[in-house]
Amino acid sequence: MTSVTEETVPALAATAAAAAGLTQQKRVPIPSRGVDYRGKVVLAPMVRSGELPSRLLSLHYGADLVWGPETIDRAMIGTTRRINPRTGCVEWTRVPTNNVKKELYDESVIYRIDPIREAGRHIFQIGTSDPTRAVECAKLVAADVSGIDVNAGCPKPFSTHAGMGAALLRTPDKLVSILEALCAEIKPAFDIGISVKIRLLETPAETETLVRRLCATGITGLTIHCRTTPMRPRERALRGQLRMIADVCHEYGVACVVNGDVENRDHAFELMAEYGTDGAMIATCAEKNGSCFRAKADGGLAPWEEAVAKYVKFAMEVENKFHNTKFMLTQMVPGKSPKYKELTPCKSYGKIVEVLGLTEELGELAKKTDELMKLVSVDGQQGSSSGNDKSKVEKKTTEEKKDDLTNQQQENLKRKREDGDEEAEKQQAPPPPSKKISIPAEVVEAVEAAVEQQQQQQQAEQPAAAAVA
Ligand SMILES: Cc1cc2nc3c(=O)[nH]c(=O)nc-3n(C[C@H](O)[C@H](O)[C@H](O)COP(=O)(O)O)c2cc1C
Repeated sequence: MTSVTEETVPALAATAAAAAGLTQQKRVPIPSRGVDYRGKVVLAPMVRSGELPSRLLSLHYGADLVWGPETIDRAMIGTTRRINPRTGCVEWTRVPTNNVKKELYDESVIYRIDPIREAGRHIFQIGTSDPTRAVECAKLVAADVSGIDVNAGCPKPFSTHAGMGAALLRTPDKLVSILEALCAEIKPAFDIGISVKIRLLETPAETETLVRRLCATGITGLTIHCRTTPMRPRERALRGQLRMIADVCHEYGVACVVNGDVENRDHAFELMAEYGTDGAMIATCAEKNGSCFRAKADGGLAPWEEAVAKYVKFAMEVENKFHNTKFMLTQMVPGKSPKYKELTPCKSYGKIVEVLGLTEELGELAKKTDELMKLVSVDGQQGSSSGNDKSKVEKKTTEEKKDDLTNQQQENLKRKREDGDEEAEKQQAPPPPSKKISIPAEVVEAVEAAVEQQQQQQQAEQPAAAAVA
């Protein structure tokens, strides 16, 4: 018979707890300045759609953490950190090296955070394919953020052609070496955690092998986007491997975050309970309406008008790039709303605020912002609508109406954008100028998007090109 002594009590207690399923889950320690992803519903990293005002909107409505848009290591390396004296935002800037219009107010800002409103809740996502560059990039921001995440899921050629994003899923040694380098050099020096965002591999066995290797690097969190690399965003997320992935993460004490078709806060908690994940991440639904982070019990999804009004205010407060604000409005304002078309020709915050019926509340701020950013309204006047020649504006709007895409065309373009179908966007590009037809504003927007991506890529490639030269 086994006698119970002081030495055997803990062992017996552990056995009993295990039998009762009460064993405390293993947890990797969370660095003191870092954050635990457990129990969190978070905003996904989104290029263009995850800029500061979108993040502030999500936080306003209850997002627990916000990921910044993937930023390529080479684009950050060489930037200068400054505090914007008007907004208090921390900005990383570089002197524009390509032919962007110099007079554009803030064209040189590569990354921007709000150190007060995002405090303790901002995760910086790196696009990288090299451990040394990843560390160099992370060092630039690590003191200002609460975590560093590595993008190992972006399927776009923009990322993968340089060995970044989803390409890392096929080069696990490289991905592991990047995470190990960040864990060794950033985690202890800045006291924040390192995490990774991946996609499903074709078979559960392949995914499991990869997840085990990643969890062993010292990361504190792993986000699984429940789609494989070739899957389109509109295909339903697959949950078949999710429980297994969460279990493997737990073996290592790593927090597992589910992503893909998470609709809102309540849905996030349902998924977490069903599949045993620790957190949940929302992208597309938050892009459309940041109030998806508000629980039903607290009011649930707000009308788009409310979310848009708050978004525009945040955008002006942080001096968000105008074309990014306009792009976001095309995501947030339903295509069927008459406001959607009215917003298309707007060339200043003043006009946007006027179209949205917010002049009383936001007119002054719009005027100041337009002056600062040197934005002009449709009729060429400075600043807000106050000085507009209304008849001219109306005339122009009527003319532009002729050029508008049909609703069906707008929907198609929107869907293609959602698919990240850059080729399709390019095909919508304007015909040669000799044909002398006017260019629909949506096409201009699409081309601007492609140019923005190209610029980031060029900025990213320039230092490399210089090094080679
Ligand atoms: C506009 C847009 C931009 C995105 N940019 C990034 C990015 O920078 N980094 C990343 O890891 N994933 C990016 N994604 C993928 C999302 O983070 C997310 O994994 C995907 O949209 C699935 O989530 P959902 O079903 O909630 O949309 C982006 C998605 C969208 C729609």
